[in-house]
Amino acid sequence: MAEGASVVFKLYCLAVLTVMAASYTVLMRYTRTVEGVRYYSTTTVFVTECAKMFFTLCILLKEHKGSIRKVSQELKGNIVGKPMEMLKMSVPSIVYAIQNNMTFIGLSNLDAATYQVTYQMKIPCTALLSVMMLGRSLSSMQWIAVFVLTGGVILVQGIGGEAVSHTTGTEGNYVVGLTALTIAVFCSGFAGVYFEKLLKGSDTSLWVRNVQMYSWGMLSAFLGVVMHDYQNVRENGFLYGYTPLVWLVVLLGSGGGIYTSIVVKYTDNIMKGFAAAAAIVLSTIASIMFMGLVVGWMFVMGASLVIAAIFLYGLPKTNTEKLPVRKSGT
Ligand code: C5P
Repeated sequence: MAEGASVVFKLYCLAVLTVMAASYTVLMRYTRTVEGVRYYSTTTVFVTECAKMFFTLCILLKEHKGSIRKVSQELKGNIVGKPMEMLKMSVPSIVYAIQNNMTFIGLSNLDAATYQVTYQMKIPCTALLSVMMLGRSLSSMQWIAVFVLTGGVILVQGIGGEAVSHTTGTEGNYVVGLTALTIAVFCSGFAGVYFEKLLKGSDTSLWVRNVQMYSWGMLSAFLGVVMHDYQNVRENGFLYGYTPLVWLVVLLGSGGGIYTSIVVKYTDNIMKGFAAAAAIVLSTIASIMFMGLVVGWMFVMGASLVIAAIFLYGLPKTNTEKLPVRKSGT
């Protein structure tokens, strides 16, 4: 992939990520709430990590023109040869593993739209962490955009739950869902910014970084299965309840992860957050159409603010492919 990607390419990646995030959310929620056999979400997180590793290795192989020898040389040099770099990558990877499990809990207990809008709290969280951890600066207009977005999200969430109502009773526990999602928000902000710091603070390629990341991801997701679903998996099998739709969730989750990494490389985490906010609009339309979701006026107003904020923030005026800070020993 060429260094210095064009604006068209960046927009393309943001658009794909947005569509993937929206369909992932709706589908994940559907597979967790539909009648019938319930798959173990910890196994899905693990299978998704494996799929991301597989896709990343395929991309690396393509970059090295099909030479397995060159790929293994590069990986050996970066994994065995740089144990400290490998260790550093464990931080975002483990935090992401926690986040990915928390989002499943969140989505199993909340409706897609409430989930989606609450999860957007990661935007101000990420903006703050980007400023604190990366030394990035936002113009006053961009800060206003972040706060307009936050206001929009809170309105959409509807203090007291008025903005989004369900046509059918949700069996989930609202408090559990919201707590899990709050943890996920912090994990998302921290892991995203930390990954960006490691990626842009060194010359190691995105795909090598991803292999480092997914190695830890597979390990921690596997631990998640053992700790949470060991007995269930022993009794019913690892892929218990895997319908074609669950495989689609895995595909969208892994594709979303790969595109997230590309977007972070060529833009930044704040931009990614704004793009993800656009997924609200899509997932809400999908929820209205397919799941009978009813939205109130607060939701409509909040969603309008979210959209306004996206425009206020504007396209990146600066090159965000490198960090504005000195290399910090990474
Ligand atoms: O919600 P958020 O945008 O923070 O989610 C990012 C997702 O992208 C996580 O599921 C994480 O596992 C994934 N990711 C990835 N590879 C990266 C960075 C993030 O798969 N290099």
